[in-house]
Amino acid sequence: MNIVVINGTEIKGCTYQIKETFLSVLRDGNEIVEYYFPKDMPHFCTGCKTCFFKDEKLCPHAEYTMPVWNAMLKADLLVFAAPVYALRTPGQMKALLDHFCCHWMVHRPDKAMFTKRAVILTNSIGASNREAQKDIATSLQWLGISDVRCLGFGLMEGVNWKELSDKRKNKIKRKVTNLAKKYVLFKHGHMGLKVRVLFNICRMIHKVLLKKEETPSADNQHWINNGWI
Ligand SMILES: Cc1cc2nc3c(=O)[nH]c(=O)nc-3n(C[C@H](O)[C@H](O)[C@H](O)COP(=O)(O)O)c2cc1C
Repeated sequence: MNIVVINGTEIKGCTYQIKETFLSVLRDGNEIVEYYFPKDMPHFCTGCKTCFFKDEKLCPHAEYTMPVWNAMLKADLLVFAAPVYALRTPGQMKALLDHFCCHWMVHRPDKAMFTKRAVILTNSIGASNREAQKDIATSLQWLGISDVRCLGFGLMEGVNWKELSDKRKNKIKRKVTNLAKKYVLFKHGHMGLKVRVLFNICRMIHKVLLKKEETPSADNQHWINNGWI
């Protein structure tokens, strides 16, 4: 199994420990590629829209975004590990995901995404992790991934791993390990009802738009090439 890990922090702290615990169950026999942000994609989307109207390979940040995107395409399992910042996902995670909007189902989805599985691992000092997880999960859903599991922790005792009691660290590790065990056996993800409905709505929109175009847009050409419209 190919696993790609998107780390939303470069700090080797609590997020790192949680992610390492998850991977420790899966290291044997699997190929793991990891990216750390913002180091591996230190730019915000400029809003030039070249990806939408022409090609994502022409993005001014393509040297950073394309390796990550290609690795994601090759992966069977995507792991997103991030702390909660200001109740949301860190800006660097959002900046990366913004660059992949051109692959949302409203634009040019890649069919490889429909069979992937994803895990979102988060932690906060005490606040709800839900909205931060949703920031990532929403992007994954629109990229066409149905099989997404989230696991979040309120650390409560501190923001440094070393400050946490053994009891808490063990509880976190136990939960993360149990989740990771669900991925030991390789399985493809399947297109769920929500993604299927969104995909079909997008298909209708593209059909309508195509009728109004003299030459198909980059988006519609992609839908034609895939035999979807
Ligand atoms: C800039 C910043 C903002 C944060 N915002 C929140 C927050 O809104 N709510 C919360 O409970 N924890 C917050 N935290 C704590 C983190 O979610 C996380 O638990 C902590 O950074 C430990 O993870 P790490 O060692 O991987 O950095 C914040 C941390 C940082 C650095």
